[in-house]
Amino acid sequence: MPELSIETVDLTRTFKGPSNTTVKALDRVNIRVNQGEIFGLLGPNGAGKTTLIKILTTLLLPTEGDAYVAGFHVVKQASELRSFINLVSGGETPGYGILTTRENLWFFSQLYGLPRSIANLRIKELMDKLQFAEYASTRMHKLSSGYKQRLNLARGFINDPKVLFLDEPTLGLDVLSAKNLRQFVKDWVRNDTEKTLLLTTHYMAEAEEMCDRVAIIDQGKIVALDTPESLKNKLERRRTVKLEVRGSSSKFGDLKQFSGVLGVSQSQDIQSEISTLKVLVEDESVISEVISRISQSGSKVISVSKTEPTLEDVYISLVGRGFEESEAQSTTQ
Ligand SMILES: Nc1ncnc2c1ncn2[C@@H]1O[C@H](COP(=O)(O)OP(=O)(O)OP(=O)(O)O)[C@@H](O)[C@H]1O
Ligand SMILES: [Mg+2]
Repeated sequence: MPELSIETVDLTRTFKGPSNTTVKALDRVNIRVNQGEIFGLLGPNGAGKTTLIKILTTLLLPTEGDAYVAGFHVVKQASELRSFINLVSGGETPGYGILTTRENLWFFSQLYGLPRSIANLRIKELMDKLQFAEYASTRMHKLSSGYKQRLNLARGFINDPKVLFLDEPTLGLDVLSAKNLRQFVKDWVRNDTEKTLLLTTHYMAEAEEMCDRVAIIDQGKIVALDTPESLKNKLERRRTVKLEVRGSSSKFGDLKQFSGVLGVSQSQDIQSEISTLKVLVEDESVISEVISRISQSGSKVISVSKTEPTLEDVYISLVGRGFEESEAQSTTQ
């Protein structure tokens, strides 16, 4: 039996919302992640992913329930836990602007109390592997956002954590840098069976490529949890049909009003004015109705094709919509 690395038991967190309402950011979340796993958290904006990560990294207290990381209770044993974990959030400023990248990493290594020789070795190794050694002596405020993110990631590995949390790690990285980072992180987990990685991402392709298992979270609740493969198999007869449409997609309204349409994701090519719609259907027969609705609205369907189920289709079927803005990126990464 593999050892448990992360466990939550009915984990709940509420916040005060606007005009005295209560927002349930997490609603009785139960997950169990094993050592050696790469585990993905997927869900729309505001689903509760960052809230869960903040609780697991001792930055936020739960309202109810319990959580354990690396065998420590995240509230009762928070200070013991901290040296075994690290967190990197995409888009975060990774240190002090007037310090160089090397000085920033040195600073964080000293917060963890690393001996000089180990710290120096690790800093060099991280700068080499994440490919920013040439900027070792550059002050952080002079780095481009992609290089700041590399520094941010290097900071996450500085204490060689047992459990690493990455909240949208490839945000703002170019295609090659994102690929490089995914490989680096995968190697880090695969080369040591005691490591565990929990990550959130809005890029479905990234989750599919990296994760052993994923949990899909919506409005604070886990709505699915399995390997990407099993989640796809569960879609069974449900099919995603890809339609390329010329003309404004705003005219034909909400296609989800057709019974049998389970979800729609849409992306638009700005230059050619062609929209790509991915329509997840219960049964393919409803597609002819969808096509006539689009034609009646004055737009033109220029191609129709069936696709093999992807993790994104699973997501759309559960959450009811795709990630329009991240779709464009996931196809380029
Ligand atoms: N400090 C806070 N005070 C009040 N409400 C909060 C706070 N932090 C989060 N929330 C609310 O909790 C819910 C979950 O937010 P969270 O940041 O966990 O979502 P998320 O899944 O990380 O979303 P995203 O994909 O946009 O990063 C949202 O409704 C959010 O508005
Ligand atoms: Mg978030």
